Amino acid sequence: MAYFDWDSSLDIGVDLIDSQHRRIMDYVNDLHEAIQNNDQELVFDVMERLKDYTFDHFAFEEQLMEKAGYPLLEPHIQVHHRFCSRVDELNELLRTGSDPFGVARKTRNDLTRWLIEHIKQEDHNYAALVRKALRQESSWVSGALRKIFGTDQKAS
Ligand SMILES: [Fe+2]
Repeated sequence: MAYFDWDSSLDIGVDLIDSQHRRIMDYVNDLHEAIQNNDQELVFDVMERLKDYTFDHFAFEEQLMEKAGYPLLEPHIQVHHRFCSRVDELNELLRTGSDPFGVARKTRNDLTRWLIEHIKQEDHNYAALVRKALRQESSWVSGALRKIFGTDQKAS
């Protein structure tokens, strides 16, 4: 059973971002599955992919906010940075021999709580402005996606 079921109240109305947020939560569910199945190899694998994808997502989101001229960009970036430091710390614990399942549980719990709060507060705040910017400059998106994620497929 999944650890977390996506709730449409978490959608901010920017499709690209909503699908990326869902993808992050898919990784959280993968981590949960690794814990449930006592699969240490999967814990290492998912922790790595979760980190890479989350960092790319933040980079994309920051570029989108910048493009839209969002006035609270800087504080939002600071929030992302704090969270990235935490994810780095957790990965470091894993690399330096901490109990992988303990690290995985902490990551699953913290990431879920943090992401839900962040989406409902900070991300909702930029949604209207970003939607407007995307309507005006939709061609910009493919280039930014390719640059950050290496593909212009929405959430791959
Ligand atoms: Fe954000």
